[in-house]
Amino acid sequence: MPSAPSFHVGLISIHGDAILSPMDGFSDWPFRSLCRELGSAMSYTEFIKAEDIFNPPKQVADKLHYEEDERPVVIQIYGDDPEVMLAAAERAQELGADIVDINMGCPSKTIANRGAGAGLMRTPLKVARIFKLLSASLEIPLTGKIRLGWDDDTRNYPLIARIVEENGGALIALHGRTKAQGYGGKANWEAIAEVKDAVNIPVIGNGDVKTVADIGSMKEYTGCDAVMIGRAAIGNPWIFSRLDRGQVSFEQVREMMLEHLERNLAFYGEQIGLVLFRKHAARYLSPYPLSKETRKKLLTSKQPEEFLTLLYEIIESVNLPPEGGEYHPGPRSRTG
Ligand SMILES: Cc1cc2nc3c(=O)[nH]c(=O)nc-3n(C[C@H](O)[C@H](O)[C@H](O)COP(=O)(O)O)c2cc1C
Repeated sequence: MPSAPSFHVGLISIHGDAILSPMDGFSDWPFRSLCRELGSAMSYTEFIKAEDIFNPPKQVADKLHYEEDERPVVIQIYGDDPEVMLAAAERAQELGADIVDINMGCPSKTIANRGAGAGLMRTPLKVARIFKLLSASLEIPLTGKIRLGWDDDTRNYPLIARIVEENGGALIALHGRTKAQGYGGKANWEAIAEVKDAVNIPVIGNGDVKTVADIGSMKEYTGCDAVMIGRAAIGNPWIFSRLDRGQVSFEQVREMMLEHLERNLAFYGEQIGLVLFRKHAARYLSPYPLSKETRKKLLTSKQPEEFLTLLYEIIESVNLPPEGGEYHPGPRSRTG
């Protein structure tokens, strides 16, 4: 850990400038904890529906789980009703969160069309009300993760960023795409620079950070305090240790896969743990030349023993250098 904090969120010191993005279905405790150990500077939960936090079913309770050594832990919630958001944020605080984050970026129809996630950005007065209400009541910092806006005609990120700051928000994370863009197209780093210039609270830039060099480039281009890395961290958590995937040895991949799988099985139980690990396995193995059939077997395997046997077979075959030389993995896909 560097000796001087990189920046502060309220009174909380943040050490480091690369952070794993909250990603529903991916940034669960097993993956998040590994990324944190490799250098991700904060630990964001997957987003949690505000109403679900009070009496969480197991699936939501799993999302709320964290360990002490992960701190600072950010519990991210989504919703559109200020009173429910207040109660949910207070509950997150009781659960020991260091920071509560409001999701204003989710593009999913069921969420955004009802005015939550990215849909909240369409009602700036409600954003103001939520931030004012929650920041006045919470003892921990309140932050917001936003997009550029709903679509090209309503790119209201400068307004929303100012509203967040003026109503007690302690940090803004900006994903440089509109809701309409989803996860496609190019992220707009110019907008991140604009927000950084306009507010006095820390800004995390997000979108299209795919390599170690991109971390520095986004920081330099935008002046942001830190960058958030989403899809490019899946299959390459080492990016938080400043290693691009091509620099990671097969031995490191093997060890990481086994450790990640072990955490998944211990955390979720064998069946669910395995099912949830398979998509990570595919990404860890994506640079290697596996046959279609092997990949399919890996992605459909239901029994941990069967999966492990297959994994070891793959590991052995990949580990063997091809005839006449050393194996050099090709570039990995980064499409998520
Ligand atoms: C599968 C998936 C799930 C996501 N879930 C969340 C979420 O729960 N909360 C959130 O704020 N953003 C979520 N995001 C958006 C990411 O945090 C991030 O803003 C986006 O992927 C852009 O960053 P990237 O280009 O580095 O992937 C999700 C993205 C993906 C691909």
